[in-house]
Amino acid sequence: MDTTKKDQMKRGEFLRNLGLSTSTLMAFYCLGTTMTACGSKDEDPDPNPNPNPNPGGGTGVTGTTTGSGINFTVDLANSNYTSLKTAGGSAKVGDVIIAHTNAGAYVALSKACTHEGETINFRSAQNDFLCPRHQSEFSTTGAVEQGPAASPLKVYTVTVSTDGNTLTVKA
Ligand code: FES
Repeated sequence: MDTTKKDQMKRGEFLRNLGLSTSTLMAFYCLGTTMTACGSKDEDPDPNPNPNPNPGGGTGVTGTTTGSGINFTVDLANSNYTSLKTAGGSAKVGDVIIAHTNAGAYVALSKACTHEGETINFRSAQNDFLCPRHQSEFSTTGAVEQGPAASPLKVYTVTVSTDGNTLTVKA
């Protein structure tokens, strides 16, 4: 018998000898064993210790970012999206991946690979999109450059505000 068990039994015997009820004994038992014996989840660390990972405030996106009615704006002044201001930058918003191509244009495409739905990434060095699962490649117009994907990516219309600080992406 380990010493912890011995200590618990000694405590229980001691309390019983004081004439306390079973429920009172359980309360003592729980308090004396750091709550683990009672199944408390208080010992678990906070699964979300930083509920606001974007201290800049807001997400920088407004509108519909998923589904068939995609129509949203991206605030390029927001810290989440300032990388888009530079050629080679990219960002994923809902179902869409936006890239600032090496030619200086913005493109927005469906981010789900047409092969098996993996999320694609923009490759600034190649100025194209790569699926990490089976290495399909897509051009900035969404065309398949290399399979196994057989279908092009959906292309969305991107317009830039006159001050250059807002992108509007529409289906
Ligand atoms: S899921 Fe993209 S290439 Fe297979």
